[in-house]
Amino acid sequence: MTVAIDLQAKVEDLRRAFSALRGLLDEHVVGHREVKDALLLALICREHVYVEGPPGTAKTRLSEMVSLGSRLGFFFYQLHRDTRLAELVGDTVLERRELEPEEGGGERIHQRIEPGGILTAEICVLDDISRAPGEALNVLLRILNERKFGEQTIPLMTAIATSNPMDDEYYNEPLDPANIDRFALQLRVHGLIQSGAEEARELVDRFAEGAVLEHPEPAPVVNREAFDLALDLLAEVEVPPAVRGGLVDVLRTLVLEHDCTEENSLLTDRSFLVKAVKMMKGRALLAGRTEVVPEDLAVLSRMTTFRVPQDVHAEVPAVIGRVISKLG
Ligand SMILES: Nc1ncnc2c1ncn2[C@@H]1O[C@H](COP(=O)(O)OP(=O)(O)OP(=O)(O)O)[C@@H](O)[C@H]1O
Ligand SMILES: [Mg+2]
Repeated sequence: MTVAIDLQAKVEDLRRAFSALRGLLDEHVVGHREVKDALLLALICREHVYVEGPPGTAKTRLSEMVSLGSRLGFFFYQLHRDTRLAELVGDTVLERRELEPEEGGGERIHQRIEPGGILTAEICVLDDISRAPGEALNVLLRILNERKFGEQTIPLMTAIATSNPMDDEYYNEPLDPANIDRFALQLRVHGLIQSGAEEARELVDRFAEGAVLEHPEPAPVVNREAFDLALDLLAEVEVPPAVRGGLVDVLRTLVLEHDCTEENSLLTDRSFLVKAVKMMKGRALLAGRTEVVPEDLAVLSRMTTFRVPQDVHAEVPAVIGRVISKLG
């Protein structure tokens, strides 16, 4: 009994810490509720997140705010078409070494990387990721995926990547779906003008009143301890059998009724039978719960954005809704 109370108290501490971070995002950015939710979820679960949308829709601002609001080692990098790998992983240093007489004497110059950038950061923003040339991008994405550089495990917890849409005039180097698969959470963001008058008006009001700052510098509101606590608590959250069945049900519905095949979709076991469970647990923790509920299946919507055809993705919330009501 005391153990259960103790657990609930820790979960409440964690919920409070992350809700302060949410407050910081709300203070600086109007709207974009789904992106804010996904950023918090990525952080609490230590997963990577990809945010795609047209220019000027606060992608960079949100990514920066959530990073600065977390007391973690932070690396921000704006990718461009001449980005070289060295700029992402640290500096290349040349070292001169005297050779021993038995090595033939003289000296040798060798090159090594002094780790920096994504190799030493705990959270990083990879802004405009699709602008990077393929060569640097491939190595970068492999590091994100393996969380290793050579044999060395890196401290990176969450990478946040932003990009303009690939399928229109902002198109740069298209990231192929296998690359976007490195990001457990994937979001498509729209401008407030497109989303509705209410939030658009709120941004106008805030700007008119001077509440939108050009260069805000928020202080961190979530400590390192909260991230460690989150890791411990994720292991404690219960996933009832009915929700486990619901997860499989949603995925099987996408395959059987929406024609998601291995050719047109990336519904991998790793992402959807393993990571999705962690995401549901993370969503429960953010709500201050020690148990996953059917509504937590909503994470599947943010996991499928670029992994199923766009018309199918539009149906995902309805599929989830039907499965939830069956479970209800
Ligand atoms: N919803 C919003 N709330 C508050 N400020 C906003 C919002 N949308 C845009 N802004 C303002 O617009 C600026 C531009 O946003 P930001 O640079 O983050 O856009 P972006 O999506 O990264 O664009 P790009 O694709 O061109 O890089 C922000 O710094 C902020 O001042
Ligand atoms: Mg930007």
